[in-house]
Amino acid sequence: MTQTSHDRLLIIDFGSQVTQLIARRLRELNVYCEIHPYQNVTAEFIREMAPKAVILSGGPDSVTREGSPRAPQELFEMGIPILGICYGQQVMMTQLGGKVESGHGTAEFGRAYVTPKGPHIDLLRGWFLEGDEQVWMSHGDHVSQIAPGFEVYGTSPNAPYAITADLKRHFYAVQFHPEVHHTPNGKTLYENFIKIAGFTGDWTMGAYREEMIRKIREQVGDKKVICALSGGVDSSVAAILIHEAIGDQLTCVFVDHGLLRKNEAAEVVGMFREHYNLPLIHADESELFLGELEGVSDPETKRKIIGKLFIDVFQKHADTIEGAEFLAQGTLYPDVIESVSFSGGPSVTIKSHHNVGGLPEKMGLKLVEPLRELFKDEVRALGHELGLPASFIGRHPFPGPGLAIRCPGEITREKLEILREADAIYIDQIRKHGLYDEIWQAFVAILPVRTVGVMGDGRTYDYACALRAVTSVDGMTADYYPFSHEFLGETATRIINEVKGINRCTYDITSKPPGTIEWE
Ligand code: XMP
Repeated sequence: MTQTSHDRLLIIDFGSQVTQLIARRLRELNVYCEIHPYQNVTAEFIREMAPKAVILSGGPDSVTREGSPRAPQELFEMGIPILGICYGQQVMMTQLGGKVESGHGTAEFGRAYVTPKGPHIDLLRGWFLEGDEQVWMSHGDHVSQIAPGFEVYGTSPNAPYAITADLKRHFYAVQFHPEVHHTPNGKTLYENFIKIAGFTGDWTMGAYREEMIRKIREQVGDKKVICALSGGVDSSVAAILIHEAIGDQLTCVFVDHGLLRKNEAAEVVGMFREHYNLPLIHADESELFLGELEGVSDPETKRKIIGKLFIDVFQKHADTIEGAEFLAQGTLYPDVIESVSFSGGPSVTIKSHHNVGGLPEKMGLKLVEPLRELFKDEVRALGHELGLPASFIGRHPFPGPGLAIRCPGEITREKLEILREADAIYIDQIRKHGLYDEIWQAFVAILPVRTVGVMGDGRTYDYACALRAVTSVDGMTADYYPFSHEFLGETATRIINEVKGINRCTYDITSKPPGTIEWE
């Protein structure tokens, strides 16, 4: 649990796929909230965290199963407003004396419509203005008897107790998922709930910036911090924030492994040195990396070589900074969130920065992670608050191993050069057509084949390349972007005409799964 002076909301996670969305909706409403798996939430934990409200999430289990997850019984006697969602609603009903049944005819998945019942209540302000409300249902069980003290305020054909409340205790329970996109008015419900619970909406990026600056100063004192700057949004925002807190006590190391895009090193280094006046070591180690990669085709071997060299090189440069005790990382909240796994046990997903994983222990460094409480969108908002240009904040993600994972087969300087040129044209085309912000990630991969072509009167025997563009939310799944034929034709023509060494262009229409985003 994080120490914060903001109003806090606790989300008890019962393992729903969409628990993170609850947190996002609340953060959008300027409410600070934390997700904790039900196994870790004891009455003691709640007292210590002192949340202003609690939300019980959905989950895959059935409360009718013996040993299924519950909230601590004392929670219901602490006088804290509670909102139960789907499984959370059923937990509430069960623990407060109602009944839940499973079995034939009780399941409901997908779009449903809730009809108002009884008097209007504050939780439903702004609801039912145009008749029934569309909601998203996803439940196998249903409540067959509500707990004493509860009344019904909304029903749906398969969920007679779609919305119930005990107004005296400020307990609210809904069968549907207000956090998902398919419940269009869901945010209003959260907004009403937090108003009822007395939140002041004190979670803003301005407030966060001030608070973090204070915390970084407290943590670091007069010691030195080093930061591996990748040029990505997370490490950049972390670096700027830390620099604002402790100035020249921070040194950034930008490792140029020779696998960056066209002009990338110059742009990143230029921006941080000139615009932010940030002490920065530009470690041009391309000879070393490309030398070690020579003749290597196996994708995993490439990754291992790059990962190991990166650590060695970073350490070598960091060692020149005398007295560094801290390592800054752009770790985000989704990286540290503990989630409930389907096997029922708590599973901890801690993704350390892919490139500097293992470094803190190896070098005996302590971590400074000022973005640990933020979602990606919030990091962008903070970047904006810190004055980073919008074009930088909105950049597509770029993988740590760089162009190495866009160059299947052997990596050569020649291929990298061709790839850089083609990629720059492709991105230029996407920008010119105003598509950049609609696409999650776009790049060119150079293929390890040459094919025969004809240009002018001559025969060519050059490389083929693949264009890739996907839409995605988090990179875990992705759809290919549906460019128009005109766009694809124009772009292919430009690449083939302008880049010496490519005579054929394909567009990759594989989704993920079954494909991956990168080509390696
Ligand atoms: P795949 O190819 O696995 O990629 O579908 C999913 C997303 O992750 C990025 N990616 C990486 N990012 N270090 C990174 O920082 C890596 O080693 C790495 N490998 C893949 C990829 O660009 C895509 O956005």
